[in-house]
Amino acid sequence: MPDTEEYLKRLDLSNILRSPVIKNVIDSLQLPSGSKGLDAGCGNGYFTLMLAESVGHSGHVTGLDIEELFLKSGRALASQAELTERISFTKGDVKKLPFKDNSFDWAFSIDLIGYAVLQVHPVILLKELARVVKPDGKIYIIMWSSQMLLPGYPALEARLNATTSGLAPFGKTMSPDLHFMRALEWFEQAGLTEPKAKTFVRDLNTPINDEMRKALIDLICMRWGDDNPELLQEDQIEYKRLCRDESPECILNIPGYYGFFTYSLFQGKVT
Ligand SMILES: C[S@@+](CC[C@H](N)C(=O)[O-])C[C@H]1O[C@@H](n2cnc3c(N)ncnc32)[C@H](O)[C@@H]1O
Repeated sequence: MPDTEEYLKRLDLSNILRSPVIKNVIDSLQLPSGSKGLDAGCGNGYFTLMLAESVGHSGHVTGLDIEELFLKSGRALASQAELTERISFTKGDVKKLPFKDNSFDWAFSIDLIGYAVLQVHPVILLKELARVVKPDGKIYIIMWSSQMLLPGYPALEARLNATTSGLAPFGKTMSPDLHFMRALEWFEQAGLTEPKAKTFVRDLNTPINDEMRKALIDLICMRWGDDNPELLQEDQIEYKRLCRDESPECILNIPGYYGFFTYSLFQGKVT
């Protein structure tokens, strides 16, 4: 599927920007050495590898994804990193996990639970994750939660954030309790205890090298669209002026460019 291939390339590119913040999230979990975990919706497997490193030699992580192409990428990464003994990749649907009850010590998922495309209430998905985790094990869900990428243009940025693309994966017509910032409620409704939330920041400071610049331009495009038709025409012109790589006034050309984005971690314990 060409769309999946394109998405895989974008995920690979975005890892340059996301890695430091996801590493901070994973370090904060203090996953027990030797534990066995699940990375649900693992994508290209990049963070599955980080999780496997975190649980040490005697630990194990299973990356699960619905797209075979992503699993292939994960297997190649694990092989390059010589981590194949600590990682396996399985094709499956997070809505009906292909694992027995109590198979894992913890379950982890980045940017999937709560996505409208799944068409399932996140509480049902949390219950399915909890089914495969042992009592006293933890469930961690991590979601992109905000960004400030256009310093000096807060009104344009706010209007971009209010478009369909800016709100995604939340949809304008969705019930407020389905917004991912309501995830603590989902944990409680799923019967998980000790629900907690914490937000982590990725600072984007100059100097921005060519690789980071490419990733940032792509990230802006993923976030707000290449050509956002919901904007007024004057905003569209401003958006292109500030966010196109080839524009002489591209915002990343500002000598002291600073921006950030955040990921929020929600967690709970299986009883
Ligand atoms: C936004 S990507 C995030 C990937 C990865 N967690 C990351 O952060 O790099 C969402 C991932 O979930 C996978 N996915 C979508 N629907 C799924 C489902 N029903 N079951 C399992 N994985 C699914 C997609 O194929 C994709 O790899």
